[in-house]
Formats: sequence, C-alpha cells, structure tokens
Amino acid sequence: MRRLVVVGTGTGVGKTYVTAALARAIRRTHPEHLVFALKPIESGVVEGTASDAALLEAASSFPCAPAPHPLYAFPDPVSPHLAARRAGAGPIDVERVAKWLRDWEEDMASHVMSRMAWCLIETAGAVFSPLSSTALNFDLARALDPAIWVLVGHDGLGILHDLRVTLEAMARRGRDPDYVVLSAAREPDASTGSNAAELAELGIARSAATLRAGGGDLDAFVRTLTSASLGTQP
Ligand SMILES: Nc1ncnc2c1ncn2[C@@H]1O[C@H](COP(=O)(O)OP(=O)(O)O)[C@@H](O)[C@H]1O
Ligand SMILES: [Mg+2]
Repeated sequence: MRRLVVVGTGTGVGKTYVTAALARAIRRTHPEHLVFALKPIESGVVEGTASDAALLEAASSFPCAPAPHPLYAFPDPVSPHLAARRAGAGPIDVERVAKWLRDWEEDMASHVMSRMAWCLIETAGAVFSPLSSTALNFDLARALDPAIWVLVGHDGLGILHDLRVTLEAMARRGRDPDYVVLSAAREPDASTGSNAAELAELGIARSAATLRAGGGDLDAFVRTLTSASLGTQP
C-alpha cells in the first residue's frame, strides 16, 4: 500500500480538507485504485460533532478503517501531548501508531489483492506539534516512511513566513516534504490566490496545488503523484 502522510504548517490550515479532496480526486480519476484516509491521533473529539477521522472515512473507497480509529482520540482541542495528559492517558507512542498502521495494512492485503491502494494519513496539528515530551509529528511521519510527505499550508497572510520556517526546520532535521499544497482554509484576505506565485518567486517553495475556497482541481497533482509513485518522473 502506498502511504501518503499529510503534515501542516499549523492547525486549521486545511489538512483534513486537502486529505479528503485528494482521496476523492484519486478515486475519481483512477476508479481502479483503492483509497483509504486515516487519522491516527486526534484531539478535540467530541461526541455529536464530526471528527476528522469520520470525515476521512467518508472520503475513502469503502469503510474499512482500523479499529479503533483514531487510535488515540482525546476530548480537549489542544496539542496532542497535552490532550493525552489531560485525558489521563499515557504518552502517545509513535511506534504504536506505526504498528497500528502496519497491522491494518497486512489485514487489508486480501481486500487490496493486486489493485493499487493508497493510505492517506493526516497528522494532528502542525509538523512540529508535540505528541509527547520526546516526539513530534515530524517523528511520527519519519516512523511512517517510506511515504510521500505532503505539507499543507493555508492560502492566506502569514504563509510566506510559515512555510519558510517550516521548510527550513524540516531541512535541518534532514527530511523535506515531497510536495507543498495550499488551501483557502481561512477567510480570504488580500493575499489569497497570490501566495503560490509569491512562494515560487521568493524561492521558498513550488506548490504542487492550490485549493481555492470551495475546492479546486487536484487532477494535475494526482497525475504527478501517480506517475511518481509508479516510479517514473512526473
Ligand atoms: N479550500 C477550502 N475551501 C473551503 N474551506 C476550506 C478549504 N480548506 C479548508 N477549509 C475549511 O477550513 C477549515 C480548516 O480546515 P481543516 O482541513 O479542518 O484544517 P486542519 O485539518 O489543518 O485543522 C475547515 O472548516 C475546512 O472545511
Ligand atoms: Mg484536521
């Protein structure tokens, strides 16, 4: 199964929106592919409101998420490490998440057979949000490698700064994202729509796709992903 890990420059930047849109775009453009979208760790899970995990299950080919999904669910809408502590749970264990995913992938082998299958994994919070006193989302993404890493940022004011510092910090730790995607996750401002061009012009990042308010076309990005994942140059 091909893994794609979605990390963010922050919270509320469009990770869930992009992950679900990507799952739907792959399914629409490649009906023969199977796509599953998962959220292993989620804080702010309150009964009666739609969780990210449920939104992602709804965007998947069919309901077949690992149980439990999320593996770690906490009520307080705060950083995962703090949400876990406030819930009286032990620290989030990155290796446990990796095993949860591996075991599920093995269980899914009989459903997948020879079909191309994707597992899209949304992380909780920003790429450097703490999962425990010793692990960040970055470490979780590392534990899930080999995977395609998609860094999502909001298409609005502040993103020129946020993406620069995020990319510099990731480079310092030795793992760049494979792709950057922007999404109009907040109220549009005077910069919305122009950020992809500015990011390229300033040499900060070349974004693979921008989802404008209400959606957008991910077909070209899906073509890039499928040709790259099949081992050819996009
Ligand atoms: N391109 C977009 N168009 C419209 N609404 C969007 C878009 N991207 C994100 N949103 C909305 O912005 C909010 C935050 O996005 P979300 O995907 O939940 O962020 P994250 O998962 O990073 O916390 C959600 O209400 C989501 O539906
Ligand atoms: Mg989310």
